[in-house]
Order: sequence, then C-alpha cells, then structure tokens
Amino acid sequence: MLLDLLEELSPLPFVKFMELCLYHPDYGYYARGNLPGKQGDFVTAPCIHPVFGATIARQILEMWEALGSPKDFLILEAGAGQGYLALDILTYLRKKGYSFKYAIIEPFPAIRAVQEEVLQDFLDDVCWYTTPKDVSFFQGVFLANELFDAFPVHLVEKREGELHEVWVEVKGGHIREFYEKFCDPRVLRRVYRYFPYWCEGYRTEVCLTIEDFYREIAQKLIKGFFFIIDYGYPRQDYYSPERTCGTLVCYYKHRLVDNPYLAPGHTDISCHVDFTLLRELGDKYGLLTLGFTQQGPFLVSCGIDRVLLEVSEGSYRDLNAVKRLILPEGLGGSHWVLVQGRLYSNIFEVKLSGFSLSNRTNLLLGDFSSV
Ligand SMILES: C[S@@+](CC[C@H](N)C(=O)[O-])C[C@H]1O[C@@H](n2cnc3c(N)ncnc32)[C@H](O)[C@@H]1O
Repeated sequence: MLLDLLEELSPLPFVKFMELCLYHPDYGYYARGNLPGKQGDFVTAPCIHPVFGATIARQILEMWEALGSPKDFLILEAGAGQGYLALDILTYLRKKGYSFKYAIIEPFPAIRAVQEEVLQDFLDDVCWYTTPKDVSFFQGVFLANELFDAFPVHLVEKREGELHEVWVEVKGGHIREFYEKFCDPRVLRRVYRYFPYWCEGYRTEVCLTIEDFYREIAQKLIKGFFFIIDYGYPRQDYYSPERTCGTLVCYYKHRLVDNPYLAPGHTDISCHVDFTLLRELGDKYGLLTLGFTQQGPFLVSCGIDRVLLEVSEGSYRDLNAVKRLILPEGLGGSHWVLVQGRLYSNIFEVKLSGFSLSNRTNLLLGDFSSV
C-alpha cells in the first residue's frame, strides 16, 4: 500500500510525496494506468474531439515546411495519455497524403499498452521511448499536451515573513503537513521578486523537475520546434499577490477536490505551468520563443472551423465540442500554446498560422534570472 510506504519514508517534502503519489511504479496514480477521458477523473482536449488533433496536425505541417519539408521529420510526443492526440494527428496527415514518423516517450508499460491498442493502424510509423534519455537526435517537433502540469512541485508558504517549504508527515495512516525553513536555493531564486508582495500565509508552488526533462529533449533536437499546450500562467500572474492559495488542482473520482492527501495514489495531483520558465529554458538551451497565446485564439487562427468540416459533418455535438475547445470559459481560455524553435538561418521568418490572431510572447519577458 502506498500509505504504508509513505509512512516508512515519512517525513518527506511535498514534492517527493507528489512524485510517489503519481509515479511510484506499483502504486502511483499514472503508473497504475489512470488516464484522462470519459472513464477517467478528468477530460483533456484530445478526449473531447478529433478536430483538436487535426488542427494541431495542420500547424505541424507548417512547421515541417518551415524546416524545408525534410524526409526524416519526426513528431515526438511525451505524456501522450491514451494516444488520442497521436491518433488524430496521424489520421489527418494520412488523409492528406503525408506519412511522418511519430515517437512517444512513455515510462509506464500499462499506458503504453493502451497507446499501442489505440494506434494499431499506425504501428509501422510509431515507436516508443521510455525516457527522454533514450531519444535519438532528431529534426521535427516535440509535442506535449498537458504534460508539464503533471510534474512534481515544491509547495511553499510565507510564514512569519519567511519562505517555508511544506513537508508531509505520515503516522498511523494519518497525513499532516508541517513547515521547514530550508528550501532548495533554486526555489528562492524563482520567487524572490514576488515574495515581498505576498501576504502572510500565501501558498504557492515551484516546479524544478521540468528542467532536466526539457534539457534532455532540447539537446536531442537538431532543428525544429517545441509545441507545448497546457494550463498555466506567465510568471508575474502565477505569483501575483492575489493568487494566495496557489494553483494545485486535484481530481478524485471525477470530482475536483482541494485536498492532495485524499486517497494517495488514487487522486490526480497537478499544478499550473509557469510559462515564463519554459521561455527561460528555451533561452538557456537554444530555442527561441516564437509564439504564445491562449488555446482559443490559437485554434481559431489555425482554422479549426474548416478542419471541423474535414473531420466531421459539423453536427450539434461537434459544434459543442469546438466551443469547449475554444471559448474563454473552457479550455480555450485556461490553456495556452507555446511554440519555440531552433532553426539556423530563417528563424525570424517563420510565420505560424496559430499566432496570426494573437501572439503574447511579450508576457513571458521580464524575468531573466531564475534558471
Ligand atoms: C494529464 S495527462 C495528459 C495526457 C494526454 N497528453 C492528454 O492530453 O490526454 C499527463 C500525462 O503525462 C505523463 N507523464 C508525466 N511525467 C512524464 C514523463 N516524465 N515522461 C513521460 N510522460 C510523463 C503521465 O503519465 C500522464 O499520462
């Protein structure tokens, strides 16, 4: 049982608690094969309608053209869930007469088995890697939808004017939080500009685990793009004085709950993404941030209305799905799309349709010192 293991390891910082709850190989929420979708605890864009993946595929075609239409173009996806995004992209591309290699980074055998089943018509084009370390050098696009929100975070709180890290003690099956003054210096570096403006009791999260993953992929990308979709904020918004309770989001039995300690290993715990961090990592590892906007304007700029007519008959149900994907009160407003690129000569000439209506990369400037 996970609770017994947590008790054995107790006390532990929240970041370690979250890692075990989600990724312990036997008891972790994801390791046990929990996935988004109708049967799952929460729904993601690829589960809503194939038009999402088809529209993403259109944008990927433009990226391929920007690279000079290479034969060895690879789409590399991480955190692919059931594989619906991969399926919808590959189906759309095949319909249009294109055939690209597709690779998925999937650490969990139970989830890979689901993906293999979903992608059975494309098995000649798809391969799997267990970790980013296994990925070979490539040109193409690294794609991630709702990946980085599932990375473990440090939970911090302002107490008596100082930054404290939240730790977890597990005893006799009960879980309690306590605070330690010591924080990884990188945590402090991330928030020190914002910290003086926070009230007593302000709680938030800092994700350090993204960097290793990002670096591994960036170092393998010879030429191409990072295409990241997730819920989150630019850093000044993430750590704004009004956001006093942070951004941790938990799902248990299809319900949004505010308690990460409810049923460890059975509760999904996630956290909004600090998009400024991704811009900084791009700067550090040689990818230029080309576009940043909300999912709604992105999909509309890519022509989701026309793509819908290509992938369905435009029934009432289909239109409802598009509304969920693009409207500001749905995923269209909560989720953001970030594209970064590494091209050698013509990087400043790249114009991607997704950012023709709106490009807010300016929101990611202004914090240059945290990684
Ligand atoms: C919220 S789900 C999103 C699934 C899918 N992209 C979708 O939109 O439906 C997050 C996924 O990221 C995966 N994940 C988390 N950390 C990962 C890592 N280091 N490498 C690969 N996958 C990871 C989890 O296993 C989980 O399947």
